Amino acid sequence: MSSSTPAYTVPGLSVETGGEVTRLLNLRLHALNDLALTLKHVHWNVVGPHFIAVHEMLDPQVEAVRGMVDETAERISTLGGSPHGTPGALVSERTWDDYDIGRAGAIEHLGALDLVYTGVITEHRSVVDATEETDPVTQDMLIGQLRNLELFQWFVRAHLETAGGRLSTGDAATEREAASRAGESDRA
Ligand SMILES: [Fe+2]
Repeated sequence: MSSSTPAYTVPGLSVETGGEVTRLLNLRLHALNDLALTLKHVHWNVVGPHFIAVHEMLDPQVEAVRGMVDETAERISTLGGSPHGTPGALVSERTWDDYDIGRAGAIEHLGALDLVYTGVITEHRSVVDATEETDPVTQDMLIGQLRNLELFQWFVRAHLETAGGRLSTGDAATEREAASRAGESDRA
């Protein structure tokens, strides 16, 4: 038994499986806490002619993502595990870098946020696959969250899309690259 194997879990699941699902969920918890903070950071740092639209678009996303944080943490507790809810745990256990854009134009931030959402959604989907057999209840929760996360990414992407249906961020690999491509396309 590893140290994160709980003493008990939900009926019908082995404690080993409960522990495994808990480990996967703690990283999703970090991703969602990180996303909620990053969305607020953008809400505060966005400048330029599209300021008010983007500033106001982000708060409902923050509220919804905070709801997902609570739901995910409580699922971990329900499974007999311990949610890692502190900022120190988030920073030491996450597998991605901090959002690295400060005060910037709306389109630049949206370009970078497109990448942030891609990261969160891709990993959420991989945990959906991983819980297919082991815990469909957790899987169902994650699928429900994905429905909103994917919708929010579309809200972001609709600002970056050309009439021809192309995303100005293209295949940018970093937030800075995505921000600069989106900005260039907006000025063109
Ligand atoms: Fe505000």
